[in-house]
Amino acid sequence: MPRAVATPTGDRIPVAGPWITQLEVDYVTDAVTNAWFSQANMYNERFERAFAEHTGRRHAISLPSCTAGLHLILAALGVGPGDEVVIPDATWIASSAPISYVGATPVFADVDPDSWCLDAGSLRDRITPRTKAVIAVDLYGNMPDMDAIAEVCDEHGVALIEDSAEAVGSSFRGRPAGAFGVASAFSFHGSKTLTTGEGGMLLLDDDELHARCQFLRDHGRPIGDRTFRNTEVAFKYKMTSMQAALGLAQLERVDELVARKREIFSWYRAELAAEPDIAMNAEAEGVVNTYWMVTVVLDDAMRIDKLDLMEALGRRNVDSRPFFFPLSSLEAYRELPQSARCRQGNPVSYGISPRALNLPSGFDLTPERVARVCDALRDAIGELRRG
Ligand SMILES: Cc1ncc(COP(=O)(O)O)c(C=O)c1O
Repeated sequence: MPRAVATPTGDRIPVAGPWITQLEVDYVTDAVTNAWFSQANMYNERFERAFAEHTGRRHAISLPSCTAGLHLILAALGVGPGDEVVIPDATWIASSAPISYVGATPVFADVDPDSWCLDAGSLRDRITPRTKAVIAVDLYGNMPDMDAIAEVCDEHGVALIEDSAEAVGSSFRGRPAGAFGVASAFSFHGSKTLTTGEGGMLLLDDDELHARCQFLRDHGRPIGDRTFRNTEVAFKYKMTSMQAALGLAQLERVDELVARKREIFSWYRAELAAEPDIAMNAEAEGVVNTYWMVTVVLDDAMRIDKLDLMEALGRRNVDSRPFFFPLSSLEAYRELPQSARCRQGNPVSYGISPRALNLPSGFDLTPERVARVCDALRDAIGELRRG
């Protein structure tokens, strides 16, 4: 489908960027023109219905962000002070910050060396009588072993939440990302495969939990209330109709978006397959990885730090992003007593992070631009090895 917005033409290759066509422009134009008064929610309702169908869930709630979705579900489940929530150490802080919003404690588990997602064995080791929930993350479009994780959660009576922020269109053993656990949350941030600029969606099946989330996201107003008499102090988490219109158009094109992401990854793989010291995103049997961010992991023996490589690529007009630093290594979590133990306790997260980098993965890429990124990568690695 032809593009409606300009793709970057300059020399610098950005790390991410969307694929917007006339369909998106038409829907947003319609929303800004008509989605007011009694029609105010028309695009939100269509987007929610279509997204629920896409993930096979009963309910979908459109939100200003994925972070809001994770916050809402933790609050609706009654997770609070004194409770623990297990999350993988290798992820973006948005996966864990909502645990602190409700006053609970994040507990960091290690990730699998191939998928880079939550490891079920490490999860089992982190469960205590205080554990109320687990947030499994579909990192960079890959999927964890959801069966093994669900088994641990079931054994211990712990709620499983799927952070599917980065994984629209991915699947595990035939089930789509977003279908696992009591609820899941997607992000539509501007860098994501399916974008609304900023935005998110919470998916769930349970009617009561859905009603509780609807209540909490509207300032604790009983559903259908027209008298503005709130019964609890809660939150204001809504998506605008313009964002919902953009999201609906993108969702109607999701197969095309996902196919292009997989194609982009295949261009990189063809370019880098012959490099024995560079590993890339894995795709286990039974998994469809949508490669939100194409990622390279340099062999340990190279002794190249990701931030040095980022800088060297930047000098060659190629933008990149560091693989997430382990959450437990962040200053933000310096006061958690467990953080000091995580370097030993989560060796995979700590082992991969310093030598891994996300390469440009936006929809502006072509085989020629990917070749340019890979030439720059080889050149930068050569420079750093000589230095
Ligand atoms: C793994 C993960 N979880 C959660 C989020 C939060 O998404 P949002 O920025 O929409 O709140 C992100 C966003 O980048 C993410 O990558």
